[in-house]
Formats: sequence, C-alpha cells, structure tokens
Amino acid sequence: MAQTWTPNSWRQKPIQQVPDYPDLAALTATEAKLAKYPPLVFAGEARRLKSALANVAEGRGFLLQGGDCAESFAEHGADTIRDFFRAFLQMAVVLTFGAQQPVVKVGRIAGQFAKPRSSNIEKQGDVELPSYRGDIINGIEFTEAERVPDPERQIMAYRQSAATLNLLRAFAMGGYANLDNVHQWMLGFVKDSPQAERYRKLADRISETMDFMKAIGITSENHPSLRETDFFTSHEALLLGYEQALTRVDSTSGDWYATSGHMIWIGDRTRQPDHAHIEYCRGIKNPLGLKCGPSLTADGLLELIDLLNPANEAGRLTLICRFGHDKVAEHLPRLIRAVEREGKKVVWSCDPMHGNTITLNNYKTRPFERILSEVESFFQIHRAEGSHPGGIHIEMTGNDVTECTGGARALSGDDLADRYHTHCDPRLNADQALELAFLLAERMKGGRDEKKLVVNG
Ligand code: TRP
Ligand code: MN
Repeated sequence: MAQTWTPNSWRQKPIQQVPDYPDLAALTATEAKLAKYPPLVFAGEARRLKSALANVAEGRGFLLQGGDCAESFAEHGADTIRDFFRAFLQMAVVLTFGAQQPVVKVGRIAGQFAKPRSSNIEKQGDVELPSYRGDIINGIEFTEAERVPDPERQIMAYRQSAATLNLLRAFAMGGYANLDNVHQWMLGFVKDSPQAERYRKLADRISETMDFMKAIGITSENHPSLRETDFFTSHEALLLGYEQALTRVDSTSGDWYATSGHMIWIGDRTRQPDHAHIEYCRGIKNPLGLKCGPSLTADGLLELIDLLNPANEAGRLTLICRFGHDKVAEHLPRLIRAVEREGKKVVWSCDPMHGNTITLNNYKTRPFERILSEVESFFQIHRAEGSHPGGIHIEMTGNDVTECTGGARALSGDDLADRYHTHCDPRLNADQALELAFLLAERMKGGRDEKKLVVNG
C-alpha cells in the first residue's frame, strides 16, 4: 500500500462497526476537544513495550494480557482496579516462576470501552433498539434514551482511563507491586479458595528467596526491579474517531503514536485488509495485536502481516489466536507454518475465551475446561511446530463473579445467576484466573525440561 498515511486516512476507507451518532456536529466537536487533551501514554513507553515483546517473539519471555471484556462507567472505582491488579500480579508471579522467563504484563484496561456487535439491533419481546456498543458509545440499559450514541461518553471514557492509569502506575511503581508483598496479595482472597493454599506455598518460596538475597545484600531498597514492575495498557482500537483524536506525533522520533494506550489490537470482525481499521493501525508505531479467528486464511494472514509490519520488526505484531477448543487443531498449524515459512517475526498469543462462548440457562458463559483445553492445544501445537507459545489473552476480573462455569470450585450453570456482573462477555473470576496461571506454569515447566521431575509449588 503505497498511499500516504495520515491519522485520518482511514476515513476514505470502508468501515465496519460504526455507531450511528444522531448529532454529527456534536461528535466533531467532541473529537476536536479530545484532540487537545494530554496523551494518556507516552511514546517512549510504547517503545519499551515493543522491545519487551520483541524478546517474547524471539522466545525469551511470555506475554500475559488480560482484563475486562468491557470496562464500565458504573463499576469504576479504586477497589475494582486494585482487585484486578492484585489477581493479575499473582498470575504474573506464578507464570514468571513457571516459565523462568520475564512476563510482559499488559492489561485490557484504561481504554477497553468499545465493543463490536454481531447485530446492530437488539430485540426484546416486540421492542427493537440499537445494540449496546460499550460505555464509550451508549448505555447498556434497554431503553431508547440509553441506546442513543452520545459523543460526551468519549470524554468520560478518556477521563476514566486517565484516572485508572494513574492508579495503576502508582501501584506498579509506588510499592504495591513489591515482591516483598507477595503474601500481602493474599488479603483479597476468598476464604477457602482452592487456589489460596497453592498460592501461599509459592509465595513462601519467593519470600524465602528474597530473604536469602537480602542476606547477601540484594534488597528491594537497592534493587528497583524487585519492587517495581512495568505494567502496560491495551484495548481494541474500534472507535477510530476517538483513536484519531489521541493520535500524536512523538517529538523525540517524529513518528505517530496512538496515545490512548500502549498497545492496541484489531478485532476479528474489523480486519479486512482494505478497510479503515487496518488503515489506521498500519500508520501508528505502537505494538499491535491482531485477532485471528477461524475464517482467517494463511494467505490472508500474510497479507495483513505485510500491511501492519512491512519491516518485519519483532515486537510490533502479536497474533491473538481465538479459534475455540475444538477448532484450534484445525486452524493454528496452517497459520504457524505460513508465518514460519516466510520468516515473519510475531508473538503468538492464545485467546481461549472468545471461541468458547456458549449459552446456558440464558446466560452467555464459558466452560473452564474448554478454556483450558484450548490453551493446552495451543502449547502442544507450538511444541510440535517448533515455535514459541508466547502468551495468553484472557478476560478476567479480580472479583468473585460467577460468569464462567467450572474450575476447582466447579461452578455450575445454576450458579451463574449468583454474581453475573459482566457488561459483555463472561470473565474468569480471580480464582479461575489463578488456577489457569498455575496450570500454565506447570506446562511451561514441563516444556522447559521434559525429563526433570516436576515439583509443583
Ligand atoms: N520487576 C520484575 C517484573 O516485573 C519482578 C517483579 C516485581 C514482579 N514485582 C512483581 C513480577 C510482581 C511479578 C509480579 O517481572
Ligand atoms: Mn469479549
């Protein structure tokens, strides 16, 4: 594609998933306002994430990406953010221990507000209304007034993202993430959680290691890497007017960056090579994710790789595969072979959520066994192909919700009604997320040295 790129060149292309704003003048005014607001992230941070992901692409790290399916205005608060961050750190520490490799930490947070929908219309009884598209666009309540797309919501999403990011930065750099606190992170644990004991044992071993290091002079006071962590943000770049308003030139390099988050991804529904979302994303320098579902062909993928990463820069592109537990074996090998044959540098990540959604007792849910099964197949296939299973991408919360069935507590279809809070897709609760991390850590240990006896924390 030789045409020149500008932050608004996507407007000349066909586009999917566009909200029907009734007041276009108000929309334009909002975008102009946002364009004057400070960036949420700094280009140097996005470059730092890219180089961390380059290590993952080369087999020397693991990507943990997770958070809400959709953030909501109603649930914005310090406790929700802290509980998420705590569960996420626990997963990260378990995975670092299991992989014996750095874990790159990327939240689906501080910007994950816009949702693609399979239908423009939602019907309840005889009433038809526009579908809910995420709090950045319209309201979830099934009333005519709530469902009208309102540009003012973009300002609210921006402000919520800024506040969320501010707290996350404080947690990551200000002491909360200190490895001296691995036991403190237990505090939020639901009593008698099956994961609590398992986690406590691992935390004991880390504390012991910290004590040993302290004895030889290495402490969290004199070694920032023990008390700080790099935490990055990501979201689906769906609402391109909002993204464009936050697209800025980095004064240090002269390059364009999306400053709405460190990493942005392109959804499975909006990855047409000649359409707007690919056009926007190809021009910014952030690390990008590309969702890969069953309809993506090997040639289609190679075409997209050339558009999004023509220089074949490691760390630029993460392929987030979401096939479903029963389809991954059919689709993943052909994509891996094409990418390997052409020598393309990518991070392979597994999204075991989106291909495993079913309806049970009128709730959208995801059986934990299927989530696990897709992740296990993903690992096995990569081992067989000789490629690096580089990461996972999950929908999770730090709270004790009942949205996915199964797990060590064996949540059943009848439990779903208890605490089903998601604004969109069902998320793993803190317990299920941690269980997944433990199971993954075991796989990674197994892969590192098949012959070594595996002692599980
Ligand atoms: N700085 C290292 C890292 O981010 C170690 C570390 C500090 C860490 N706090 C953490 C690892 C919390 C996981 C979770 O990997
Ligand atoms: Mn989702």
